Amino acid sequence: MKRSMKILFAVTAILSGLASALAQAADLAQAINEKERTILAPSEEVIEMGEAVALNMCVNCHGMDGKSMGKNQPHLAGQRSVYLYRMLQAYQSGERMAGATQHPNSFLNDEAMLAVSAFYASLSPIPPSNLQQVAEEPEPIDADPFTDTRKRTKKCTKCHGETGNSTASGMPNLTAQNPEYFVTSMDAYLDGSRKHKLMKKLVSKLDEQTIKEMSIFYAVQQPERTDTQGEGNAETGSQLAQDCATCHGDDGNADNKSIPTLAGQDARYFIKAMKAYKNGKRQNKSMTEAVETLSEEDFKDLATFYAAKEPLKRDVRTPLKTTEWISRCNRCHGIDGNSTDPRFPMLAGQNEGYLRVMMEAYAAGGYPDSIMSKMSQPLSGTDIGRIVSHYASQEPKPVVYIQLPCPEAAD
Ligand code: HEC
Ligand code: HEC
Ligand code: HEC
Ligand code: HEC
Repeated sequence: MKRSMKILFAVTAILSGLASALAQAADLAQAINEKERTILAPSEEVIEMGEAVALNMCVNCHGMDGKSMGKNQPHLAGQRSVYLYRMLQAYQSGERMAGATQHPNSFLNDEAMLAVSAFYASLSPIPPSNLQQVAEEPEPIDADPFTDTRKRTKKCTKCHGETGNSTASGMPNLTAQNPEYFVTSMDAYLDGSRKHKLMKKLVSKLDEQTIKEMSIFYAVQQPERTDTQGEGNAETGSQLAQDCATCHGDDGNADNKSIPTLAGQDARYFIKAMKAYKNGKRQNKSMTEAVETLSEEDFKDLATFYAAKEPLKRDVRTPLKTTEWISRCNRCHGIDGNSTDPRFPMLAGQNEGYLRVMMEAYAAGGYPDSIMSKMSQPLSGTDIGRIVSHYASQEPKPVVYIQLPCPEAAD
């Protein structure tokens, strides 16, 4: 007898329309294996067995109601079954660690892991803890992704302008620089390879993440040419600049990520930088060689030539708003984080502390094998804060799968 294939339906409060539900069900049938299919619509017996396992082995940390018992621990109640089971497998194989330790399910056999996953999945989800304390207005999730960065750059405005196009003569423009160069130059003040007392003091107060966010902030601004054009001879400068083009580009817009753009740069700053390379205050092998045969007159001509060039905006993407991030996350995790795909965890109502720990780990490159890893790396601290508070405050909805026999295909 030919076995007819079973089709799985996710029935949730959100009805997505029959056609797309059918298409999703067909994809799903491919993506999960026979064993996993048994816990989509498990029997009473299986759930009871899972309950017994939980009582024996999980209750101390996950409770019998699946509610997180620690600040940074996950709720399991109502979590999607195949996801739970796959996590248990990953812990067991050592593919995934629970923090620094091994998650305590090493001795569970496969049947018990399936059953306990079915049990926790069958529980009613935990309502979000912050529903009671809505007194505080939540941060609008379509707010400017640079809100926090802007606050941090207030201290820079006086010298570098609001957007990094310096208004004060002698101050470098920060726009049109590649983010990588920005970070290197900030680090150079810290480690002393560039000497400027005030810059050193300012940089020492910023952490790595903030510097990275600032580098993106300045790189996505529209660059403007400096007002400080200098008094050299641009014609002569143009001749001399032929020796610089391989690194800094024909028009002073550098392609190479670690090389600064010179186009539109403040002429006084430019000359000061050239002198610093010449007298050894600023160390860089390429530049020490480049300035060797040049005179102070040449510096002025070069400065004037470059100051007049049009700086190009960097090919750096403006960070997404939180709403834009969320709509991407929802593609897998479901509307408002209520996943209808049993492989993907529900995020709605999940413990905020746990969501934060996970997102910070993904963003920092932890769990490199996870599908989450790469996409999370551009997330800033602000993004993570907004995303996790969004999901933690959504109402979690249980999902029920029913199996329908598929009409037999004629062969
Ligand atoms: C000693 C405490 C402890 C016990 C006992 C324990 N867990 Fe956990 N469990 C944790 C912690 C802590 C985490 C979060 C680990 C991490 O960061 O990956 C976790 C995570 C999980 C996850 C991943 C959830 C998610 O959303 O990613 C599953 C599934 C899970 N536990 C199931 C179980 C089951 C089933 C049992 C019983 C067989 C059990 N745990 C026993 C502490 C425990
Ligand atoms: C009081 C004026 C002042 C303030 C405030 C200031 N800077 Fe600077 N900044 C300078 C000067 C002057 C230089 C050039 C120093 C040198 O010669 O190395 C500089 C250089 C830099 C450079 C290197 C530029 C390049 O082309 O290599 C970066 C990046 C930078 N500043 C970022 C910042 C940031 C970010 C802040 C705010 C946290 C800030 N600066 C605040 C005056 C200032
Ligand atoms: C072999 C590659 C190379 C060549 C050739 C080269 N440069 Fe550079 N230049 C660099 C690198 C790399 C840096 C960044 C060094 C650092 O971090 O101090 C730099 C930095 C500079 C800076 C400082 C910019 C800032 O924002 O602080 C100026 C000005 C400059 N170069 C001008 C020139 C001129 C003018 C020439 C030609 C006479 C030239 N460079 C030739 C690689 C080169
Ligand atoms: C392409 C599908 C996909 C997209 C898009 C996606 N995720 Fe995930 N996510 C997964 C899968 C699969 C897991 C299971 C765990 C793993 O692979 O690390 C997961 C795990 C997670 C977890 C850990 C949950 C737990 O209980 O341990 C969090 C938190 C999370 N995702 C948040 C997000 C956020 C926030 C976004 C948007 C920025 C997002 N995800 C986008 C597929 C996706």
